[in-house]
Amino acid sequence: MDDARMLRAHREHFGQDGRASSAPGRVNLIGEHTDYTGGLVMPMAIDFQTVAVVSSRQDDRAVFYSTNFDEEVSLEITSQQRAPKDHWSDYPAGVLWCLAQAGIKVGGFDMSLEGDVPLGAGLSSSASVEVATAMALLRHAGATLPLEEIATLCRRAENEYVGAKSGIMDQFVVTGGQAERAMLLDCRSLAYELLPLPPSVKIVICNSMVKHAVATGEYGDRRDEVESGQAVIVRERPGVTMLRDATIDDLNACRSLMTEASFLRCRHIITENSRVLEAREALLQGNMAAFGQLMAQAHASFRDDFGASCAEVDTLVEIAVRQPECFGARITGGGFGGCTVNVVRAADVGRFVETVRREYAAATDITADCFVSKACDGAIALLAHEAAQ
Ligand code: GLA
Repeated sequence: MDDARMLRAHREHFGQDGRASSAPGRVNLIGEHTDYTGGLVMPMAIDFQTVAVVSSRQDDRAVFYSTNFDEEVSLEITSQQRAPKDHWSDYPAGVLWCLAQAGIKVGGFDMSLEGDVPLGAGLSSSASVEVATAMALLRHAGATLPLEEIATLCRRAENEYVGAKSGIMDQFVVTGGQAERAMLLDCRSLAYELLPLPPSVKIVICNSMVKHAVATGEYGDRRDEVESGQAVIVRERPGVTMLRDATIDDLNACRSLMTEASFLRCRHIITENSRVLEAREALLQGNMAAFGQLMAQAHASFRDDFGASCAEVDTLVEIAVRQPECFGARITGGGFGGCTVNVVRAADVGRFVETVRREYAAATDITADCFVSKACDGAIALLAHEAAQ
């Protein structure tokens, strides 16, 4: 994304100079569907961004202009109600609404938004828009908030305004990610650790081109199954306040009290939390073969116990793991389509991408978009760079 071009586009559309704030997308290396039960995740910010440019208005209106859709939406700030319209503007409007709820007064503004995070691919295009909007509006209001509060506010915008039941992972890493680091996040305490990724590997993201949307049913269905299983364990097992605390023994002891679906979903989450901790060890030892094996186990668990993969994504993973330069591959994000994340020997990444695209097209007739992404800075680090310039 090009800030200078966005600043020009803003001036052309609104006739005023503005200031740009950016937020990246994210890919999750391991730890899927664990965030909303207080579990562990290991995402990183990636090289796609949303840029939000803001300038002041004299009246009390909020005007959002999307250059992607070439469309403008205008609302009265002071009388803004929770009124999602199933429209792109729900994301920035939701952030504005949450800022007001948090007592942060935002004066009238024009905002241009543009993003290149692929939509519906499981790379957090929504969190990227939310966080870019929050950073831009906080700056406009002359306010600052710590990482935890920005992420929590943006998550609320998604949960309570847009109406998608996501966890905290996406907003947190999009806000607080750092270049060359994966983030191990404890989604209950919000404590996190930034872990180095060895330069000998590259992260390749392959889009199955099967679209997923967190706001529609399947993500929410899985979440309901998990939460009803969690409620049983919390009721039956002393000391368990969230699924995060539960062991496989706790789960087995409660098996007859829950549906088979809830049992399997919870088993995925309990085993996934352990895999994230093992993946941390593997990264710290620079043992990418061990890391890759954990990714393979995570994919199998997501497919079989969590039941949230799909045939195309499974094919993409199977092709990837057959390549000698691939340490590990798995589905990433909410599931039911979207992208795979692949850890690949850096020197052979070109060959990997070429083979995977060719074999996936032969197997499915679909041409996968593949991206090699560095671990990038999150919105706070991006803002610090801008301020230093
Ligand atoms: C989506 C949600 C996240 C998380 C993942 C699954 O990306 O937004 O909160 O639950 O799915 O790990």
